[in-house]
Amino acid sequence: MQEINQGYKTEEIKFLHFRMDGLILFPYMSEQRVKDLTKFATKPGDVFIVTYPKSGTVWMTQIIKEIFNPVMPEGLEEEDIIGGRVPFLEEANLAQLDRYQYPRYIYSHLSYSLIPYNSEQELKYIFIARNPRDVAVSYFHFMRALKELDWDGTWEEYFQYFLKGTVPYGSYFDHILEWWENKDQRNLLFIKYEDMKKDLESHVKKVANFLGENLSSQEVKRVSEACNFSNMKADPRTNNDRYHDKIYKQESKFSFMRKGVVGDWQNYFSEEQLEEFNKLYTSRMVSTGLDFEFIA
Ligand code: A3P
Repeated sequence: MQEINQGYKTEEIKFLHFRMDGLILFPYMSEQRVKDLTKFATKPGDVFIVTYPKSGTVWMTQIIKEIFNPVMPEGLEEEDIIGGRVPFLEEANLAQLDRYQYPRYIYSHLSYSLIPYNSEQELKYIFIARNPRDVAVSYFHFMRALKELDWDGTWEEYFQYFLKGTVPYGSYFDHILEWWENKDQRNLLFIKYEDMKKDLESHVKKVANFLGENLSSQEVKRVSEACNFSNMKADPRTNNDRYHDKIYKQESKFSFMRKGVVGDWQNYFSEEQLEEFNKLYTSRMVSTGLDFEFIA
């Protein structure tokens, strides 16, 4: 039986959380759970879709569903497990994950050092990175809406958490830079959200090729159409509607498919915040070769 924690709040961090070796995680995590995840029994052919939260995870899982049409294990319903046919590693019942058919498509927000890995198996990783200003805004709305965090703080309060890295999964920069350093590995495909927004079709093709599938141009068009923002927003399954009352505060009226644009940060960042943010961004990103477009 998986131990479910409620987490705790502190003077410094006013949302419910769990802290391990300085890293903030969602309250349902525990040391035992992290240990179980790092020892997760991978299988040859497993594909992990990895992101820092709010970077387009569900978008990529939808692309995978449209291309590969993975199925649920017998006796399990989509509602039984977050993500359904492309389950969420951190919250999954690991015995249930074991029953998924080859190849398994699993999503996760774990760091490069914590993600399950086995050099003797042909595991693949798709990492999606999104510019941190839009990630911060998207994460702010998400965290306010989540029941389990019991938090309804302000954007100003949140902005400081984000800069300090005291949000679930820790510092945005630590997280994506560790994945970026490994981007040239053969089994890792590193994609930017902003590039997908610009040209979804070429990314659908790229993802399919990376996973060994050659799509016809008709298929590429069909998948891209099914995975554009308005079609995903209109679909109650992709919009997480079935979990809505369980996961989100009733009053939040939160919609998972919120805006889906590049540049929404402009509606939130003050001039001072932008300056503070840019200082950190420059110090962390300089000479890494990684940069983002912040406006569409
Ligand atoms: P916003 O809150 O800025 O709208 P994740 O799945 O990693 O939690 O990311 C959620 C973010 O991805 C949300 O951002 C959501 O709207 C956006 N998103 C999901 N599907 C999308 C799509 N098809 N096109 C563009 N953005 C999408």
